[in-house]
Amino acid sequence: MSITTGDFRTKITPATLLEKKQKHEPITCVTAYDYTSARIVDEAGIEMVLVGDSLGMVMLGYENTLPVTVEEMLHHTRAARRGVQRAMLIADMPFASYHVSGKETVRNAARFIKAGAEAVKIEGGEKRAALVERLVDAEIPVIGHIGLTPQSLLAMGGYKVQGKSLKAVEQLMHDALALERCGACSVVLEGIPREVAALITHEIEIPTIGIGAGPECDGQVLVFHDLLGLTFGHPAKFVRRYADLSSVITTAMQSFKSDVKGGCYPNDAESYHLPKDTLATLQAIAERKHAMTV
Ligand code: KIV
Repeated sequence: MSITTGDFRTKITPATLLEKKQKHEPITCVTAYDYTSARIVDEAGIEMVLVGDSLGMVMLGYENTLPVTVEEMLHHTRAARRGVQRAMLIADMPFASYHVSGKETVRNAARFIKAGAEAVKIEGGEKRAALVERLVDAEIPVIGHIGLTPQSLLAMGGYKVQGKSLKAVEQLMHDALALERCGACSVVLEGIPREVAALITHEIEIPTIGIGAGPECDGQVLVFHDLLGLTFGHPAKFVRRYADLSSVITTAMQSFKSDVKGGCYPNDAESYHLPKDTLATLQAIAERKHAMTV
């Protein structure tokens, strides 16, 4: 595999992301949770593949990300790892896996690295700064995540756009600067006003990856299922559906069902056949049996 920069097959690392920010080249990130989807995303040339804890909803059917466990995240990280060659593979640390102690956080994060992740993402800004420092000290690349942080659902009282008051904007700026200072290699900005994301992106040197944070971020991330129209219900304002795979899949299922019920699947070309001589012998035996019974 090539390790030089600039070509399509170049392995993406934190240094590549930084270089892209400096060159004003937008960065793309898409979530993936298994081998097939990760491979498709990687082969499409997306630079970052995120095994997000959003898998709790789209893969496991939970109501939110809070029930997701380290074991569940590891299972999906290993699967995605087998599908990714070029992109940088990031794993979300789930709720309560980095909230108890620094020692436990490093131990949990190391499990994600051993499972094949090349960075971990943790939610929170200034109050996670010491943890970020500890992880970086343990040679584990870290991506921060501030603004609307879904693991703070209960504390926030719902999924609400953050950073609307001057005080909140100031706090978000402190959060971003603290993450940068402590060695995070990038920061996800979620659910904040475009103007605030633009200010942060301008102020910090590490790349910002936005989701519901406007176009001025250094990169954009979307959830695989949202991007492809595989989610139920009304999507959030920032989601652009690039395909309607839900209806494509439904039509395929209905066609399969109707072909089976109508006796036209499988047809002869889709069936295996006996060798000619075996078939002839079998037919001769059947004819002899039939002759004896009449
Ligand atoms: O879990 C996830 O998919 C995420 C993205 C929305 C950034 O954290």
